[in-house]
Amino acid sequence: MTAAALPVSEDFLRNPHPTYEQLRAQAPVCRVQLPDGAPVWLATRYADVRAALADPRLSLDKRNGDGTWKGFSLPSALDANLGNMDPPDHTRVRRLVSRAFTPRRMESLRPRIQRSADALLDAAAARGHADLVRDYAGPLPVAVICDLLGVPGADRADFRAWTDTMMTPPPHDRGAAGRAVGAIHTYLEQLLAAKRAEPGDDLLSALIAVRDDGDRLGEDELTSLAFLLLLAGYENTVHAIGTGLLTLLRHPALLAEVRADPARLPATIEELLRIEPPSPVVLRRFAIEDLTIGGVPIPRGETVLLVVAAANRDPAAFPAPDTVDPQRTGSHLTFGHGIHFCLAASLARAELEVAIGTVVRRFPGLRLTVPADELRWRPSFRTRGLVSLPAAFT
Ligand code: HEM
Repeated sequence: MTAAALPVSEDFLRNPHPTYEQLRAQAPVCRVQLPDGAPVWLATRYADVRAALADPRLSLDKRNGDGTWKGFSLPSALDANLGNMDPPDHTRVRRLVSRAFTPRRMESLRPRIQRSADALLDAAAARGHADLVRDYAGPLPVAVICDLLGVPGADRADFRAWTDTMMTPPPHDRGAAGRAVGAIHTYLEQLLAAKRAEPGDDLLSALIAVRDDGDRLGEDELTSLAFLLLLAGYENTVHAIGTGLLTLLRHPALLAEVRADPARLPATIEELLRIEPPSPVVLRRFAIEDLTIGGVPIPRGETVLLVVAAANRDPAAFPAPDTVDPQRTGSHLTFGHGIHFCLAASLARAELEVAIGTVVRRFPGLRLTVPADELRWRPSFRTRGLVSLPAAFT
């Protein structure tokens, strides 16, 4: 079956939702060709996406694919992580990791997140304006991941620079991302050795120590896990903070409500996550046998992308889905569903509450300094994130 090309135009990047709405209504499970040439199935209805996330016949392991998927490729020692694993390997590693990665530990990071947020905003407040993506939403999650892993203060500037290069390599230097991955890999191995010799009060030391019925995490498992935390934790959070702030700025009544009553923040953040998930199509799966989704046959080996951004606005699950309404009920799929549900959802929620709540509280005069329609979005259909968010505070 030939696939139509997904129309990734400027208009689509600025607002992909009309395209998703059309697909959901007319072709809820359809074959398209991605900009990199890979043929994939897109599933856009809430019921199909949710059921697919819990379907063991859909694998995360690339080796079950037909080889057409071209996603991000890492050295094998880093690639063998939870996000590419199926049971029973996934069950074993996730059980071990969950012992150290408790909601309590995540929540205990909140005061440090607050300190980092305040320090970044102090610098911006002194200037009276900031690019809230470059100066705030970007540095904050790296600081949090450094806190989580126990990266010493002196190494943080390097760590941040490698992460930036890996995620956004300079266009003229094709090898830069690979070199940054190599530098992070070497650094994480050294960090693990240091934590083994001298454990600290951080997640990495806890992961080294974790035991379950005599089982423990191996060296590569620890390195790839630390790398996954960086990869999974960084981009999603940057974009969730950036687009979340923009959505609030576009809805002044909602912003005023949150400012008047900070207790409304958690529900508001859930709604911001529903309406603009930072990874609209991050959930990729490979069919390990012939199967059907929403009645459409999917042959074994083919790639399925579960379009969370479309599922989260399915009127069958969320009435008046384009309205931002913190009172609504129902579970969005932004953190996934089933056995791969985001391991750090409680940390991500704490980060968003601190990051967005602090800007709202500290800057009553917050406003955009360019028209919202002129803001630039990252040129990717895989992530939904702003390139910059210029704002003034008076
Ligand atoms: C707003 C921020 C975040 C969003 C929207 C998000 C979303 C997700 C989603 C959708 C998945 C499931 C992927 C799948 O089923 O294929 C996932 C898994 C995961 N996330 Fe997050 N995430 C966020 C923040 C974080 C942070 C801060 C960390 C860690 C520091 C993290 C670590 C992970 C890990 C380790 C997994 C793999 C779990 C598994 O496969 O068992 N995430 N995340």
